[in-house]
Amino acid sequence: MSTETRQNEIVRQQEPRGNIPREARESLAFVDNVTMKFNKVVALRNVSFKVGYNEVVGLLGDNGAGKSTLIKVLNGFHQPTAGQIYLDGRPVNFKSPRDSRDAGIETAYQDLALVDLMTITRNFFLGRELQRRVGPFKFLDMPRMNEIAAKSMAEVGLRNIREMYETVSFLSGGERQAIAIGRATFFGAKLLILDEPTAAISVAETEWVLRLVAEAKQNGLSVIMITHNAYEVFDVADRFVVLQQGENYADLKREETNAKELIEIIAGRK
Ligand SMILES: Nc1ncnc2c1ncn2[C@@H]1O[C@H](COP(=O)(O)OP(=O)(O)O)[C@@H](O)[C@H]1O
Ligand SMILES: [Mg+2]
Repeated sequence: MSTETRQNEIVRQQEPRGNIPREARESLAFVDNVTMKFNKVVALRNVSFKVGYNEVVGLLGDNGAGKSTLIKVLNGFHQPTAGQIYLDGRPVNFKSPRDSRDAGIETAYQDLALVDLMTITRNFFLGRELQRRVGPFKFLDMPRMNEIAAKSMAEVGLRNIREMYETVSFLSGGERQAIAIGRATFFGAKLLILDEPTAAISVAETEWVLRLVAEAKQNGLSVIMITHNAYEVFDVADRFVVLQQGENYADLKREETNAKELIEIIAGRK
């Protein structure tokens, strides 16, 4: 344990119970000393990780480093074995991604960003459907939802979609990411999490997704973008966190590093 870590440890122990750590008070989200075990597999070991207000963080690391697990702990998909999550300076205990979504964290997963067999509109509103009352009955307000979803999709540049009632199974990877980003912006999320959004998409679509991330920042959001491609995320991120075997191995501002160095760090050569 380094001297500084040791000092932090001591400070932590001396803090009165219930005291909020400084990083939590100064950040939008703070993952404090989290460990996540799956039986004997330690996916995260004492990881601390913060996301500032209006900040884009590139979360980097090789396959199996713990990136997806970290964001799943942050958004309530997993409950950490040990450690605490803070949002807006307050401790939170999300029981499910639904809870974190209600608190302003919108996640687009690597594997399961959208529900394939549902329409674009239904995916856009998933869990937040608009209703319309007719007498004692409640109906989904499909015309209004279609209109809002279409407008929002046009804003993120998804212009040539055929119809809002098409299922998303026909959409490309980039189009799916665009829906997730548009949804986050529309519903006023504070934090957008994208897990390997460009893993399975074309070069042109990658540029589009990166542009949307930059726009999300301009709109005041914070973004965590997971990738194992440092070149790709370099221009769009303010800071980079590199996980290695479940530990926070490096935390660097863009001014302090470059894509080539990050690749060396990810590969464990530095
Ligand atoms: N649900 C799970 N059950 C058991 N092991 C898991 C589970 N999720 C992740 N792991 C393990 O945790 C480690 C980190 O995985 P993951 O977070 O998916 O890495 P990354 O997203 O960086 O590729 C891996 O060893 C993986 O096998
Ligand atoms: Mg992953």
